Amino acid sequence: MRLGVNIDHVATVRNARRTFEPDPVYAAILAQMAGADQITLHVREDRRHVNEDDLRRIIETVHIPVNLEMAPTEEMRNIALTYRPNRVTLVPERREEITTEGGLDVVSQKEHLKEFIKPLKEAGIEVSLFIDPNLEQIKASVWVGADAVELHTGTYAEVWNSFDWEGVKRELAKLRASAKFAKSLGLRVYAGHGLTYHNVKPITEIKEIEELNIGHSIVANAVLLGFERAVKDMLKLLK
Ligand code: PXP
Repeated sequence: MRLGVNIDHVATVRNARRTFEPDPVYAAILAQMAGADQITLHVREDRRHVNEDDLRRIIETVHIPVNLEMAPTEEMRNIALTYRPNRVTLVPERREEITTEGGLDVVSQKEHLKEFIKPLKEAGIEVSLFIDPNLEQIKASVWVGADAVELHTGTYAEVWNSFDWEGVKRELAKLRASAKFAKSLGLRVYAGHGLTYHNVKPITEIKEIEELNIGHSIVANAVLLGFERAVKDMLKLLK
């Protein structure tokens, strides 16, 4: 199982002060050194965390594949065609949301997505669609010409976090059936969203899923695991 590390929230901390630290490029290098298989980042319309300059610097610096998550808009496609990440993952985006709240509705915008994807594929960029674990969305993903789907694990994570074990069983069954179906139709299968050190294990047991993209939980743990060292380093300067 490959790991794509999403570094968005390193930039969230940086942007809280509109300063230069922590630099998401530094985090991307550390993720690479730790053995990550991919760097994932989501350039949003409102640039609330990473921006295109971060994307450019990460692509120039790391030697592992870069996966750009983006909304299917003209502006974002131009960014992808300019900087050429290895993969684009199309996600739905609403300005008011705290994070991506559901999968892309491929069924209702099949024609648009088919046309939207073409130039990306012609440029040699792999195209993945972030969708709910739903068989109709998977069929539509094949129809529009996607190379891969990333199954949204957000609902699974939510039921896990509220200790709803029946819900966990139900969501795992959906993810298993969807992964199997997508693979049988020739799609590569990835998954992600809301995964943590507590809930990731059952997902790793779904053999059709090749890769997980995980961000918030890794950044959250990095802050706490590094806190003691950071305080000690400051104390040394004060003494
Ligand atoms: N995959 C996709 C498509 C996403 O939009 C996100 C969030 O940006 C992630 C994975 C990572 O989610 P999390 O930060 O909850 O691990």
